[in-house]
Amino acid sequence: MRRKLAAGNWKMNGTGESLAEVDRLLRALPDPCCEVLICPPATLLHRMAARLEGATVALGGQTCHAATCGAHTGDISAAMLADAGASHVILGHSERRAEHGESDLDIRAMTEAAWDAGLAAIVCVGETDAEREAVNTLDIVGGQMASSIPDAVTGENLIVAYEPVWAIGTGRTPSLDEIGEVHDFIRARLERRFGPGVGRSVRILYGGSMKPGNAAEIAAVSNVDGGLIGGASLTADDFAGIIRALSAGA
Ligand code: 13P
Repeated sequence: MRRKLAAGNWKMNGTGESLAEVDRLLRALPDPCCEVLICPPATLLHRMAARLEGATVALGGQTCHAATCGAHTGDISAAMLADAGASHVILGHSERRAEHGESDLDIRAMTEAAWDAGLAAIVCVGETDAEREAVNTLDIVGGQMASSIPDAVTGENLIVAYEPVWAIGTGRTPSLDEIGEVHDFIRARLERRFGPGVGRSVRILYGGSMKPGNAAEIAAVSNVDGGLIGGASLTADDFAGIIRALSAGA
């Protein structure tokens, strides 16, 4: 049984004041609860780890460098994220691919670095609007998976996030059938490459305009094991609403 995961990606949002939102979230968590992860900006990781001491909410980074240390001004290694309290890291988000030119092979190297540091990698895949019109979405997603996911996958060290780029921050989402088609395809590819045991244990998250109002129906789609949530993870009320939807039956 794959446990549902609600992963909040705060992106470049949040200062010390935002920690109060985490306190509110902790008070609003349902029991039983799905797994919950918050990926704040790196500047908040350490303070948030202290705030979450004793809570079941996990922490993650939003990217990492492929090297362990060295002359890479402005970058952060996977070991540094782990040192600051992270257990996960988001890799290959479409905003990183677009704004920082990250390629599938870069993401593969970062994923290996994350694993070396003991972090679970959330590898993001998904098509742009133009790709959706011009090419089959499944070809895009299959290509990204083949090139950006290394070989040494276990059920624990990898989470795949399907984030259609055109759905991020737009209020638009694919139909439930479309989400199901892509998630079933991702599952089939994972099973084919890594074998049925490992392939079935990797979780597949949906991301892109997930809200309290659509989380339950999206979570009920086959092979949707949770969500990667941007805007709606920034406020305790909205994130708790999504967590409640993902916790049904937890
Ligand atoms: P939104 O939930 O704001 O659409 O963002 C999704 C996302 O990019 C999460 O990584």
